[in-house]
Amino acid sequence: MGRFDSLPARDRIMVALDCTPDEARELAGRLEGHATWLKVGITLIYAGGLPLVRELSERGFKVFVDAKFHDIPHQARGAVLAAATSGADLITVHGSGGAAMLEACHEGAELARERLGHAPLLAAITVLTSMDAAALASVGVRRPIPEQAAALATLAQRSGIDGVVCSPKEAREMRDLLGPDALVVCPGVRPAGSALGDQSRVATPAQAIAAGASHIVVGRPITQAPDAATAFDAIEREVANAL
Ligand code: C5P
Repeated sequence: MGRFDSLPARDRIMVALDCTPDEARELAGRLEGHATWLKVGITLIYAGGLPLVRELSERGFKVFVDAKFHDIPHQARGAVLAAATSGADLITVHGSGGAAMLEACHEGAELARERLGHAPLLAAITVLTSMDAAALASVGVRRPIPEQAAALATLAQRSGIDGVVCSPKEAREMRDLLGPDALVVCPGVRPAGSALGDQSRVATPAQAIAAGASHIVVGRPITQAPDAATAFDAIEREVANAL
């Protein structure tokens, strides 16, 4: 039995709030009593700051701080602790920061456990999905993208990181590589029939879960729906059926 296997559907769906702080507050109001997780990315973090993370946390949400830390170990350790202290329950870090940085992030999470009584989850970014082989080569990485992604995922796991963020198309491979206890968080998820927006290689919530995702990230199909709570509930039912 894997670490996340018994999670109910509701706790596996992370709603991406890619909007202004005021819109985020309004969406949080609409999703209260429905969603467990909200995801804030760097646009919202730099607009609303960690006080917004704290506010969402105090309203009872788990907050995914998608800040993709990548710095020297001393900074990364402090940033994980500071974000956790503000209410972050999941934080992303770049696998390409290397073992020392990843271990420092893990230490930051353990410091949070000592001080707060609970530690945030940590997920590694391997290769940004916006990068193709040419872009990777331009920064000096010449091996194929799947090899680079697998190498960074393994490095992160050995350094104490809980898992990865990856496309649903890579979820099966990551689950097999990292084992049943790994956190596997998949964006690029679209319920059947919903608009793709700028996403191209998508999977449905059921497909992502069946491929081994522990959690899915869904933004616009929920946040731009006429009724965000109804859209969330429909996805929750789909995930529940896939479990
Ligand atoms: O609105 P949508 O469902 O496309 O939002 C997906 C969210 O997941 C966004 O916050 C986006 O930044 C994030 N994401 C992604 N693809 C990745 C990594 C993160 O879409 N490879």
